[in-house]
Amino acid sequence: MFDELSNLHKKCFPNKPWSADDFRELKQSGCEIIMSENGFVVYRIVVDEAEIITIGVNPEKRRLGIASAIIGIIEKTTKSQGVKKIFLEVASTNTPAQKLYENSGFKVVGLRPKYYDGVDAILMSKDI
Ligand SMILES: CC(C)(COP(=O)(O)OP(=O)(O)OC[C@H]1O[C@@H](n2cnc3c(N)ncnc32)[C@H](O)[C@@H]1OP(=O)(O)O)[C@@H](O)C(=O)NCCC(=O)NCCS
Repeated sequence: MFDELSNLHKKCFPNKPWSADDFRELKQSGCEIIMSENGFVVYRIVVDEAEIITIGVNPEKRRLGIASAIIGIIEKTTKSQGVKKIFLEVASTNTPAQKLYENSGFKVVGLRPKYYDGVDAILMSKDI
């Protein structure tokens, strides 16, 4: 599973690929990982909040609703575990991801200036 995740991550984030060991460590540190053939998400739950750490879809399979479906699964799963709010950070330059989150009902709740190598991070959240 971790090798497949690493291969898919490399397709989604060619400039910052994560290794199989990176994913193994995330899992060992308590993160949850959901992976399908063409999409994955890493998230973690802290008490009654969940944070989406990263999400990616195979470039050849985008705009088919895969990421939206994955977010729907996280909402359903975490809600049943007592989670009340999901939050995430997204680069201000990453329009596709911002649109995805807006479409999924997330609202902008803050800004972290120059968070990613000089690029602002937009903080978004959704009550579930
Ligand atoms: C962001 C990402 C996960 C979206 O995955 P996806 O499976 O294509 O998303 P969906 O098909 O579920 O799209 C849902 C909605 O998001 C919006 N959206 C998604 N990609 C978009 C794009 N390139 N441009 C504009 N809007 C976009 C649209 O509103 C879309 O609905 P529509 O297709 O009915 O118009 C994917 O583009 C990706 O892997 N990007 C690289 C990794 C990344 O940036 N991850 C996020 C890090 S915070």
